[in-house]
Amino acid sequence: MKIRKNIPLIDQHDKYGFWGGKFGGNYVPETLKKPIEDLASNFSKLRKNKSFTKKKNYYFKNYVGAPTRFIKLNNLSRNLNGAQIWAKVVSDANGGAHKIYNAVVHALICKYMGKKYIVGDTGAGYAGKMLSMAAKKFGLKCKIFMGAKDIKRQKPNCDAIRKNGAEIVPVFTGSQTLVDAVSECMRYWVSNCDTTHMCVGSTVGPNIFVKICGYSTSQISKELKFQLINTFKKIPKKIKLINCVGGGSSAYGFWSEFIDYPKSQIELIGVEAGGPKNSKLHAAPLTHNAKLGILHGAASYVCQNKEGQIKETDSISAGLDYPGVSPIHCFLKDTRRARYTSVTDEDALKAYKIVRKFENLNPSLEPSHAFAEAIKIAPKLSKDTIIIVNSCGDAIKDRDILKKFNL
Ligand SMILES: Cc1ncc(COP(=O)(O)O)c(C=O)c1O
Repeated sequence: MKIRKNIPLIDQHDKYGFWGGKFGGNYVPETLKKPIEDLASNFSKLRKNKSFTKKKNYYFKNYVGAPTRFIKLNNLSRNLNGAQIWAKVVSDANGGAHKIYNAVVHALICKYMGKKYIVGDTGAGYAGKMLSMAAKKFGLKCKIFMGAKDIKRQKPNCDAIRKNGAEIVPVFTGSQTLVDAVSECMRYWVSNCDTTHMCVGSTVGPNIFVKICGYSTSQISKELKFQLINTFKKIPKKIKLINCVGGGSSAYGFWSEFIDYPKSQIELIGVEAGGPKNSKLHAAPLTHNAKLGILHGAASYVCQNKEGQIKETDSISAGLDYPGVSPIHCFLKDTRRARYTSVTDEDALKAYKIVRKFENLNPSLEPSHAFAEAIKIAPKLSKDTIIIVNSCGDAIKDRDILKKFNL
């Protein structure tokens, strides 16, 4: 299993849709074969279409607000007294998180395909909020599937979804979190695919959804590459790119331009949700060497029991609370290009507190997991090492959870 150079990772799958011969694919019911083929063929044409690319870039700049800031966290760096800590402030993007890139691209594809309805899943509420924003912007009718547990814990994003005129469909099955929301959304799409486009909120799902999402979020690393050269005159010698991983869309977007660099120059570190301390529950399939399984139309490492049933997960962060992970991250793990670890709820909260204490930044609970890893490793590293954390979400949505911890 090998990564090829000079080809975007999203395109390094075989003709059946598998990365590394075993991750991804299209495990879908017969009725979805045609809609998925149509979507794949339209996307393949649109990517090469200059006017589509121009339109996408126009909305990224003028609606999303690209580029987002790349800043040094001076106080935090000084206090940790080791590697420099920098942040790519993706939460600057319109709506407060990276999910806006994928939402805008899906809305544009939906318009191009002549569909008037768009549906999507959400966990932390950002994917839903952004899809409702894009739907409003482009005149589409929108439904968002969301687990009942997440509706309760991510109220500010739910309010935004409704304000944008979209309907939230509460999902009461299973753990009432993201995994159930994606299942329910896919089920809805099976019966409505003639009129409706589906947006999967991360780099998961059947092959084409992984590709569209990765294509969209790769904007983050395109900007960062430019910003690094602008700041340091060249790509520095010792970089560590730290990103939280739920489905893996922000991590892929943050890393995509840097995958071809040697690991000794640019280390890619993915941080999964370790769940509550002293609990067996977590949402970290890569860290815990979960077995290969099929979830949401694709093969990937999935938290499962001995029978192959999907295991319950737990995380304080709704966006990371997912038992599977992108096939692309499974491929990056098995090729050893990226290293994956996990951080507990408690350590993510501690990291949030530290970042808030030293910096004018308000990372949501998802990137707080990445900050926890940065805070842990920075003191052991040299001052010329540059740690960059993707601060991919704003903690406004976590208001009610943070209040419980007096934060
Ligand atoms: C702010 C934020 N970060 C990270 C994630 C995790 O998703 P992904 O791994 O696809 O970036 C989410 C998901 O909702 C999110 O809202």
